Amino acid sequence: MRFLHGFDPVEITGFDADTTVLEWLREERGQPGTKEGCASGDCGACTVVVVRPGEDGTLRYSAVNACIATLGSLHGCQLISVENLRDGESLHPVQQAMVDLHGSQCGFCTPGFVMSLFALYHDSGATSPSREQVLEALGGNLCRCTGYRPIVEAALASCAAPPRDRFSAAARARHHHGCSAWGHCRVTGTATAGSLYTAQRVPRRWRSCWLVSRRRACIAGGTDLLLDVHPGAARRCQC
Ligand code: FES
Ligand code: FES
Repeated sequence: MRFLHGFDPVEITGFDADTTVLEWLREERGQPGTKEGCASGDCGACTVVVVRPGEDGTLRYSAVNACIATLGSLHGCQLISVENLRDGESLHPVQQAMVDLHGSQCGFCTPGFVMSLFALYHDSGATSPSREQVLEALGGNLCRCTGYRPIVEAALASCAAPPRDRFSAAARARHHHGCSAWGHCRVTGTATAGSLYTAQRVPRRWRSCWLVSRRRACIAGGTDLLLDVHPGAARRCQC
């Protein structure tokens, strides 16, 4: 499978079907900035952004819970995690706003909030998001100690103008350069006996895959199945 992490091309030839994006980032990539809180999709501490082209060709920035997203789901995408945001010595505008407006105390939730703000920064386009849109964008992130007012203020301040960061400047060309597998038969990964991940974009191929793997689980997303698998349940096949 191939994807971009930040602007770095990544190619992985073998992986467990139930490896999560969070496990890959922290344990294999060695980047602990993305936090594990609840490990069940509830707190938002593990939020990352996954970039995919929309139907109109524009890039869509989606905030994703890395603890319940499979590594295989990244094939052909751009993964952006909190370590990718800084540009040299400069913080990203959403990070700087969190600093300036005192949006963090203990900091455990902060990388997740920052990534949700980063998705909003790109997805709100040329218009400033309303307070309701900010609350919607931050609805999956929990903070126990700062309080939400300064975080909402940081969102309103940093997302008020059209995005002007290195991602918006160079993203499209590099994204497509690194993700040339769009529209093709997608990814198959296997690392241990009984572990298989396959994803197909062509419905006919998906059906033939399902026919040979009837005893396996088929998922769209991750959510409930990943909660089931991760406490150590049996390996699964995911289509
Ligand atoms: S660690 Fe809580 S949502 Fe992922
Ligand atoms: S800053 Fe401590 S949980 Fe949010």
